[in-house]
Amino acid sequence: MDISELIAARKTVFEDYLDRYLKDAQSGSEVFEAFAYSLRAGGKRIRPVLVMLAAEAAGGHEGDALPAGLAIEMIHTFSLIHDDLPALDDDELRRGLPTCHKKFGEAMAILAGDALIFQALSVILTSPYAMQVKLDLCTALADVCGTNGLVQGEYEDVMAEGIDLPLDRIEGIYTRKTSRLFELCMYAGARIAREDPESARSLAVFGSHLGRAFQAIDDILDVTSDRQTLGKSPGKDLAKSKATVVKVLGIDGARSWAQEATGRAVKVLDGIVAVRTEVLRELAFWMLGRVM
Ligand code: FPP
Ligand code: MG
Repeated sequence: MDISELIAARKTVFEDYLDRYLKDAQSGSEVFEAFAYSLRAGGKRIRPVLVMLAAEAAGGHEGDALPAGLAIEMIHTFSLIHDDLPALDDDELRRGLPTCHKKFGEAMAILAGDALIFQALSVILTSPYAMQVKLDLCTALADVCGTNGLVQGEYEDVMAEGIDLPLDRIEGIYTRKTSRLFELCMYAGARIAREDPESARSLAVFGSHLGRAFQAIDDILDVTSDRQTLGKSPGKDLAKSKATVVKVLGIDGARSWAQEATGRAVKVLDGIVAVRTEVLRELAFWMLGRVM
């Protein structure tokens, strides 16, 4: 099986699990409808796939990674619902469908996003994981999302519109708004698979470099790709003068930047002995292949 087939297979496993979860969790609530709409809408599912691959690499089973993968996908989906709101990026298309607030209105989109945060915690806390694993996952999740992570990154991203930031500041934004969740995916997979803090830490560092490469790739695609392929409106970064590596380095420079970040990610894998890193290495290059 080549890497794209492997990723597609894990994505299917995750989406089957998500379907079962949504059927079981179904309620008559309209908030639930908006919540399920955004969770069901396509997307690459790269984060839950990463949790599965990290767990497998660390000697665990893909199935054990599903609750953590779902919780992280919920947090990611929540962050996109809010990111698309008029007060933030003001977008109308996401995952090939109208954004949550376009479909259900702003109040509902805010509330569906809020619900996703707490459901994410509930998925972990009611999972079959050992108590200490639940505690470690929730602790890491809280750290990654707050003022050292996604919220701060999103704030910096919005505040940087129209401002010429140097590369190191842009890298900082990428780290907080995107990389930290990638870091969590790797940590979670490794933590679920076994009690080996060293491997979990190293895989998290790999995830951090991979996340920066991913955000640069996303920003390149915003310029080079189209609405149909992306499932979201292209050209927004330029229109809003967003702080991206493309703005500072141009397309070719941004490709080199993403290549270097991928190189750093792969180098971390070279130093990990207790984990089967081959698939993760292939995944990093597969991701980069989207813009090369
Ligand atoms: C998309 O980036 C947005 C993010 C990666 C992060 C958004 C984060 C928040 C709204 C804060 C989340 C808060 C918690 C508690 C997790 P983008 O706008 O560059 O990408 P896009 O083109 O897909 O919109
Ligand atoms: Mg956005």
